[in-house]
Amino acid sequence: MFSRTLVNAVALAAFTLRAAAQYQDMPPAMGPWFDINTQGVAGDYGEANTGVNAADEIAGWYDLADVWRTAQKVLEPSVWGRVAGGSGHEESMRWNSKIFEYVTFRPRIGRDLANATLDTSITLKNGAGVETVFTASSPIFFAPSGSHGRVNPDVAENGTVRAAATAGVIAGIAQYATVPIASLGSIKSENQTLWYQIYPGEFDRDAVLEQVSVAKNAGYTALMVTVDTASEGWQSRDWRAGGDTPSGNAQDNKLTWDDLAWLKDVQDLPVIPKGIQSVEDAVIARDMGFAAIYLSNHGGRQLDGAPAPLQVLLEINKYAPGLSDEIPILVDGGVYSAQHALKLIALGSKLVGLGRPVQFSLTMGQEGVEKMIKNLNDDMLVEMRQIGVSNPSQLNPKYVNTQRAAGFIYDGDLQ
Ligand SMILES: Cc1cc2nc3c(=O)[nH]c(=O)nc-3n(C[C@H](O)[C@H](O)[C@H](O)COP(=O)(O)O)c2cc1C
Repeated sequence: MFSRTLVNAVALAAFTLRAAAQYQDMPPAMGPWFDINTQGVAGDYGEANTGVNAADEIAGWYDLADVWRTAQKVLEPSVWGRVAGGSGHEESMRWNSKIFEYVTFRPRIGRDLANATLDTSITLKNGAGVETVFTASSPIFFAPSGSHGRVNPDVAENGTVRAAATAGVIAGIAQYATVPIASLGSIKSENQTLWYQIYPGEFDRDAVLEQVSVAKNAGYTALMVTVDTASEGWQSRDWRAGGDTPSGNAQDNKLTWDDLAWLKDVQDLPVIPKGIQSVEDAVIARDMGFAAIYLSNHGGRQLDGAPAPLQVLLEINKYAPGLSDEIPILVDGGVYSAQHALKLIALGSKLVGLGRPVQFSLTMGQEGVEKMIKNLNDDMLVEMRQIGVSNPSQLNPKYVNTQRAAGFIYDGDLQ
């Protein structure tokens, strides 16, 4: 009798230890965007846009997993590889989303949430310190991503811009847009906010000023300068699927902080460095007086092994507490649910960007992008109520438990 109890106790202890170890190692469920089917190889996918009725397809979209499935079904393999893929072994691309599972909410109850809204405002200052307030119907914005004509040649960025207008969200437009940026400026609705993204390349100052002048005349009201692209990413999946051939180091990027400071001071639009990945650079950007800090690893398409933006946000909160009160922080990368967005906002992000979700929903046209953003916004209202706040601005770090993510924060000396 005694020995059986002892055997049971030992077995239970062994089971508990095994379960604990298993829990530590268990990869969090990644959802369909990272499962074996969507990781597939060229040739696994459907014929481009044939036999799909957009309205029927969109009617079946409840979250971004549905959007991914549609895109996978309709895009040519090379286009799917280009958009869905990341760099290297796509560790950073997966990690961007995976890390959210290590952060949980701390909901509160008993509050009047009848008038919950997503209304958002963000204040950006230019190099002379002049402030502009931008308002939006949601803290979600469209991250600038190139060549929307690749996923939908019929409407390209025209569909994206019009969908952003319908939704009332801020849209970043990439330098490498399919549709000329001036033409997009001409279809923007009166109160719509478009921000222009620049790749500095060799940073030819005359060429940059020329672009900025076109953008400004076309009604773009801020500049996002991409700083995470010192070389083009090593995007094997894209190349394997027949995308652009490897260019290695060809796109040498000579951008320095001096160039960024010059751009901030030489013209009067606010300048946002896009692709900050450390607290050190976040502090430099604040001290130099940039309009905002944009945390991004380019959706895991540049340096594989780069930190997830949420990780950088935690690093900032540890080493430069209060920074998000001094300068607005924008974040993108792997934000594929309302909960992801709300966790980032609780940790200090003012706006949260979407890259692939915009491109993949655009496969079904302007209406596709509209449905995608409506789903996310509606879901955000639901989750905000569950958390106990009636506007994203009421969130703060006390609404999230980041204890399980603490081990992912850099803990050495700062450079
Ligand atoms: C197909 C594609 C093209 C992109 N092109 C650009 C670009 O031209 N300029 C840029 O700054 N970022 C570009 N990005 C990065 C996005 O701005 C954004 O950082 C990233 O997509 C966010 O991650 P997500 O796709 O997981 O939302 C691109 C991303 C994708 C997926």
